[in-house]
Amino acid sequence: MIYLNGKWMPIEEACVPVLDRGFIFGDGVYEVIPAYSRKPFRLNRHLNRLQHSLDGIRLKNPFSNEEWKQLLEQVIASNEGEDQYLYLHITRGVAKRDHAFPLNVAPTVFIMSNPLLPPPAELLVSGASAITALDNRWIRCDVKAISLLPNVLLRQLAVDVQSLETILIRDGFLTEGAASNIFIVRNNILLAPPKSHLMLPGITYDVVLELAATHNIKHEVREIAESEVRTADEILLTSSTKEIMPITTLDGKPVGTGQPGKMFAQLHALYQNYKATQMRGHVSDPLQS
Ligand code: PDD
Repeated sequence: MIYLNGKWMPIEEACVPVLDRGFIFGDGVYEVIPAYSRKPFRLNRHLNRLQHSLDGIRLKNPFSNEEWKQLLEQVIASNEGEDQYLYLHITRGVAKRDHAFPLNVAPTVFIMSNPLLPPPAELLVSGASAITALDNRWIRCDVKAISLLPNVLLRQLAVDVQSLETILIRDGFLTEGAASNIFIVRNNILLAPPKSHLMLPGITYDVVLELAATHNIKHEVREIAESEVRTADEILLTSSTKEIMPITTLDGKPVGTGQPGKMFAQLHALYQNYKATQMRGHVSDPLQS
């Protein structure tokens, strides 16, 4: 069952008018929220990021956080699967085609849920391959906009060569993946590019940095040069749907030893443990939010 503008229906019955500004202009924003054991993971963070994206496109939030929470609970309850990923999507609504914002138009609000499957075990054991490409997206990548054409084209470059992800380089520095954040490891130090308008502030990215801080893993948040990515000991990919994955081949060459490294093993174990505490609803969890 999906939610569309106040109504609940099977997805096959859900339709939006062709003049929806999401369809015409890609004028909207979205969120992807994992739910484990039917409990949304880091919901407040996702709702805060949604507000940031809405502010970025000057669209009023149609709901309070409390209302969002109730709606998302209903979506989870009316779909199958203990682990789900929630997709919510807000556009500037339906109006005669004109670039300028329409007046007094209700936004379109759509929420769906899909089963959330863990990354394939063999990829965690052997690692995945990635390619690099120039980051040719706009310069508001901190806004989770539904207009994803550059991301789609960049990710397809990876799919075309049977790779998992395209790692993006802008002006000689690492930004992120086409649909993920990227960390590297050099000399046993975890390195993360700093949040800026050039990357999405990933919720999983935050979890990884918080886990590193609380477990005394050496880490630095700083600009990462392309040459450092190419000579990294490890490369790690994070996202809400892929969690943490090791990248062991970059542009056809092995990363470090070509096998998932120690930093991946440690962070992956910590992440699974952290998820488990969330599922048990551990209120004393210091990272809970
Ligand atoms: N994508 N950067 C980009 C460009 C992304 O699209 C994503 C996630 C991330 C990781 O953010 P988070 O950890 O909050 O999921 C970084 C989602 C999963 C998607 O579009 O399907």
